Amino acid sequence: MAVYKIAVLKGDGIGPEIVNSALRVLKRLGELSGVSFEFEEGLIGGIAIDQKGEPLPQETLELCLKADAVLLGAVGGPKWDNLPTSKRPEKGLLQIRKALDLYANLRPAKVYEPLISASPLKEEVARGTDFIVIRELTGDVYYGEPRGIFIENGKRVGINTMKYTEDEIRRVVKKAFEVALKRRKKLTSVDKSNVLEVSGLWRDIVEEEKKNYPDVEVEHLYVDNCAMQIVRRPSSFDVIVTGNIFGDILSDEAAVITGSLGMLPSASLGEKYALYEPVHGSAPDIAGKGIANPIATILSTAMMLRYSFNLERLASAIERAVELTLQKGYRTPDIYSEGCIKVGTEQMTDAIINSLEEIWEGL
Ligand code: NAD
Ligand code: IPM
Ligand code: MN
Repeated sequence: MAVYKIAVLKGDGIGPEIVNSALRVLKRLGELSGVSFEFEEGLIGGIAIDQKGEPLPQETLELCLKADAVLLGAVGGPKWDNLPTSKRPEKGLLQIRKALDLYANLRPAKVYEPLISASPLKEEVARGTDFIVIRELTGDVYYGEPRGIFIENGKRVGINTMKYTEDEIRRVVKKAFEVALKRRKKLTSVDKSNVLEVSGLWRDIVEEEKKNYPDVEVEHLYVDNCAMQIVRRPSSFDVIVTGNIFGDILSDEAAVITGSLGMLPSASLGEKYALYEPVHGSAPDIAGKGIANPIATILSTAMMLRYSFNLERLASAIERAVELTLQKGYRTPDIYSEGCIKVGTEQMTDAIINSLEEIWEGL
């Protein structure tokens, strides 16, 4: 029987709490299924700065390079907020994405029927929402040079550079078409080509690639319009593909439609490596209180089982266990509504493991 080696980077804030929950679920699933998971921990983010002097120590990178997949919690927090951008915890995350060449970030936003009342949108608007944002993750203004704060005419000027090469755009656009083919075959490409040359190139490449995927219907939206359409007609989207910065913003917007940012998982995929993490951050406002919603991280492990290990049956067992637990009424505070059972991180995890055991018997 294969052993799957998972590098575990818990990070900061609620990172350790939510990753511990996900590991408990994976361990139980391993026992039920007979599949072996091996976990090895590494430091990233603020805790790595405190202990090793840098946000992505070399040993953490090496651990990730030899693992079959990486599970990450979140990085960052007020303690490190005054450091320069190049030395912050978030830099560790950007470095690992680049080092593993994780160019396609899949962020599925699905409204679960039992959570419909937790959505900030009207029920009839939110109902049936099930789309995926594919965010390019290794280019754009996040990595473009030149960057920095410079002096011009005796005054400070901040510079970042939005840059995409043709190949960088093409590989993520192809990935998005492939994903669309396995879903409802509708692709929305998001750009700002009315203003930005980078976006003009993006749109041209989508048009070129469209010819290779005649079964996929393509729609182009400007990012400002898309931000508006996501709250107006969320259920009409299937696959949204966009660049790094637009994808960052649109995926938080998409997340909250599902009821909470604490619900949205993600997979960051390259040709060789893969990393799985919730879309949300380290939530310093609730860290250490035992109330963080672990579902985004637990669902991220389901994505790992599916995309890295090809264990579809195990992946859908986790997804169904989460759904069943929500149906039973368990809610962390971020998704709580009246009449439900309010629980903390640990109790939510217990409830999901119970549901998993029930589902496994029926599989
Ligand atoms: P955040 O996502 O950490 O939190 C935004 C809001 O959502 C907060 O009110 C928080 O309590 C809530 N929230 C987030 N996750 C939750 C969960 N699982 N359960 C319940 N509530 C949850 O964003 P922020 O406050 O803008 O950033 C905080 C820190 O996290 C910053 O340092 C930021 O750079 C970092 N960050 C890291 C990542 C990452 O590691 N991938 C992502 C986003 C932000
Ligand atoms: C995310 C986060 C990161 C990003 C930050 C923490 C660097 O917001 O994963 O969405 O902007 O990519
Ligand atoms: Mn973000």
